[in-house]
Amino acid sequence: MLSGKRVLLIIGGGIAAYKCLDLIRRLKERGAAVTPVMTRAAGEFVTALSVSALAGEKVYSDLFDLTDEAEMGHIQLSRVADLVLVAPATADLMAKMATGQAGDLATTLLLATDTPVMIAPAMNVRMWDHPATQRNLGVLRQDGVTVVGPNEGDMACGEFGPGRMAEPLEIVAAVDALLTVGPLAGKRIVVTSGPTHEPIDPVRYIANRSSGAQGTAIAAALQALGAEVVFVTGPAEVSPPDGVEVVPVETAVQMRDAVRAALPADAAVFAAAVADWRVVGASDSKIKKIAGALPTLSFEENPDILAEISQMSDGRPGLVVGFAAETDDVIANATAKRARKHCDWIVANDVSPATGIMGGDENAVTLISDAGVEDWPRMGKDAVAQQLAARIADRLV
Ligand code: CTP
Repeated sequence: MLSGKRVLLIIGGGIAAYKCLDLIRRLKERGAAVTPVMTRAAGEFVTALSVSALAGEKVYSDLFDLTDEAEMGHIQLSRVADLVLVAPATADLMAKMATGQAGDLATTLLLATDTPVMIAPAMNVRMWDHPATQRNLGVLRQDGVTVVGPNEGDMACGEFGPGRMAEPLEIVAAVDALLTVGPLAGKRIVVTSGPTHEPIDPVRYIANRSSGAQGTAIAAALQALGAEVVFVTGPAEVSPPDGVEVVPVETAVQMRDAVRAALPADAAVFAAAVADWRVVGASDSKIKKIAGALPTLSFEENPDILAEISQMSDGRPGLVVGFAAETDDVIANATAKRARKHCDWIVANDVSPATGIMGGDENAVTLISDAGVEDWPRMGKDAVAQQLAARIADRLV
């Protein structure tokens, strides 16, 4: 529920602005108060009268409205809310936000606010895919903006692809997750995810197979319960979740350093598929192929991040969770791994190709802890993540 919460809703000028009428209803149904702000362009798509009737509040639209300035300055307006929500966030609004422009009321509020900001982008698919928009998106994420959507589908402009604004109920769910104090509020949790790449030369590397899907889902689930998540990720296929601090790394050594830098933490979850070895003396320039002469690679051991952090004498996270991806004797190997690495829990799974788990959407895991061995039924990776996050919350709270 969102009772007692106030959302400052900035409506941008795009066809999806019509969905804001429903969005306002949904937010109010859940108990939120909505202060609407419309850009000049938004007025071309919805009327201030409809917006104000549904919100039950005055619509703010002009930076130089002296009455508003006397009643409530734009700085104050930007701060009384618990969340500033931009929907639809057009390509133009995103660009202005990313570059810190403040030419009208909406952008001034966004620049002046000290409350969390969420955007629901909506635009033509080519505009969304354009490197400039993607660049702006990256900047906004780095600035801590939460992004919901866009969804893929048929668009008003007749094209198909990502660019449709998320549905009002999805936006409300994201607002709920951000504003509702979860059981992990105030807890800091480090999550490693994805593979590491160990260079042979500037163009070649060795790596483990890992899409990063399970680690990403875990970070998202922990964040949804209110945790402050530091997400240390190797080069994964899946994009990192919104609302977490992302630390991109390439190699195991970089991952270890990033994890150490992120401490102290209340818990650490090691879902990354870290390469066990790195190439000794990786070449700075591309190794040329010479007919008949095969290169010889020699390896040295990478730091075992899970084992290292589990055995810290000072500043060890209160709960350390490792993963064990096995193809044979899953439980015996995972149990031995837990003892060898001194972590608290091991989440074991069978990654034999026949299971379809590697690269798939589902996972079947066994949780091994002091309490014993617990088989979880096969379920979606998101569901595994949510269950694990709930268990972590039980343990930490
Ligand atoms: N792990 C780690 N650092 C490493 C290797 C593994 O932090 N250098 C972590 C993984 O993130 C995972 C757990 O250790 O949580 C187990 O990883 P896994 O690859 O299954 O174990 P290994 O120690 O590599 O053992 P083996 O490959 O022999 O099964």
